[in-house]
Amino acid sequence: MTDVTSALAIVVLAAGKGTRMKSDTHKVLHPIAGRPMLDHLLASAEALDPQRRVVVAGHGRDQLEKALQGRADIALQEPQLGTGHAVQMAEQALAGFDGDVLILYGDVPFVRTETMRAMIERLNAPDAPAVVVLGFEPEDTLQYGRVIADHGRILKMVEHKDATEAERACGLCNSGLMAVKGRDLFALLARVGNDNAQGEYYLTDIVNIANADGRICAVTVTDDEHEVQGINSRGELALAERRWQDRRRTQAMVDGATLVAPETVWFSWDTQLGRDVVVEPNVVFGPGVSVADHVVIHAFSHLEGAKVASKADIGPYARLRPGADIREKAKVGNFVEIKNAIMGVGAKANHLSYVGDAEVGAAANLGAGTITCNYNGYFKHKTIIGDRAFIGSNSALIAPVTIGADAIVAAGSAVSRDVAPGELRMVRAEQMVKPGWADQFHDIMRKKKAEKDSSKG
Ligand code: UD1
Ligand code: CA
Repeated sequence: MTDVTSALAIVVLAAGKGTRMKSDTHKVLHPIAGRPMLDHLLASAEALDPQRRVVVAGHGRDQLEKALQGRADIALQEPQLGTGHAVQMAEQALAGFDGDVLILYGDVPFVRTETMRAMIERLNAPDAPAVVVLGFEPEDTLQYGRVIADHGRILKMVEHKDATEAERACGLCNSGLMAVKGRDLFALLARVGNDNAQGEYYLTDIVNIANADGRICAVTVTDDEHEVQGINSRGELALAERRWQDRRRTQAMVDGATLVAPETVWFSWDTQLGRDVVVEPNVVFGPGVSVADHVVIHAFSHLEGAKVASKADIGPYARLRPGADIREKAKVGNFVEIKNAIMGVGAKANHLSYVGDAEVGAAANLGAGTITCNYNGYFKHKTIIGDRAFIGSNSALIAPVTIGADAIVAAGSAVSRDVAPGELRMVRAEQMVKPGWADQFHDIMRKKKAEKDSSKG
């Protein structure tokens, strides 16, 4: 292993039109596991602590600017004259930079940090290669550029369209990713022409130029062809999602969660699961969910932006929305929606409830159909329910409202004023009681009906 001491810059190419996505959204902003593919890539590169980050953009530059929020410089490539031309556009942003440059593709989002590191280490090896190319050996070489190499030393880079039959027979392909010393990169690029089958400025030509200068160019090969697979269409996007989910499901089980039917559980990039969590079939984790140890998530639940503490019990058919904070041993049952609300330790909402903008105290019990009416069409208000309070079924708690500890709200109440601790509140009309009334009613009515039927003959 070589000690990597040079400063690092990353250049992410993302100026291609992405035509095959047929989308108004920039290709690299399409999410996988709830996170834009560009962010997956940047996160993996971030582990190498780059000093500079440049994204080369063309179409949809505004979208990229908005999504990046200053996390990278943007270099404009207009028009798009090829991968070599694209990297050239980063020259200004990298002015004064004299470290290693790692060239990545925005639509190849799952290159591992280790793979990137291996490229940089190779670049800094004693034989000092001018360019390091990441190669791979796909099952089907398709239209990929070929890397003609001998024992790791590149003899020639050739695009499929420019290649001879003999060159096309070569199974080692160019992933597109490269590592180059900053001081070499732009000098080499300046010498690249576009006299080729596509009339483009090929980045790959810097290898051939350096070779002609007598420099060494090296290829590092990844054994995982999936990590360098590009995403060009919705089909490939779905395939990448599936692969990501499969890896994550396996990891969840390795980490000590039980997935009853792993192929039906959907994770987000940042889902956190504790040990001995049981996830039943058809559960979806949106972004921002953390689940502590010994939680059971029953079938068909949907969680997003939620925190679930240990031994809580969720679902089946529960929906936890952003800001749901489910404390230890709390229970959120079927067809219950929780949004921006705390369910205190051991609190229960077992059936058919909406709990939004609320704080539910420890061991409080919300009966079936309890609704916090948090929105009046203009503003949202808060409902606070004290410890051990009991809310009867089908109650409407009209916020802002506070229910004191140990209070009881009678079933069917619409509560719009605060309830004191220990109080019983019943908000419904007095019951009318008429013994025998129904029997008399039926007698009269049956008689009338019989008279009418007989008069019809
Ligand atoms: C390129 C490589 C090829 C490699 C393949 C891997 C060259 C000449 N060819 O081919 O050897 O096997 O990638 O997928 O480098 N881009 C720009 N501006 C441009 C052109 C492209 O930013 O003017 C970006 C695209 O957005 C994309 C990446 O560069 O992220 C690659 O572009 P693409 O057109 O897919 O490259 P290929 O010609 O397929
Ligand atoms: Ca491509």
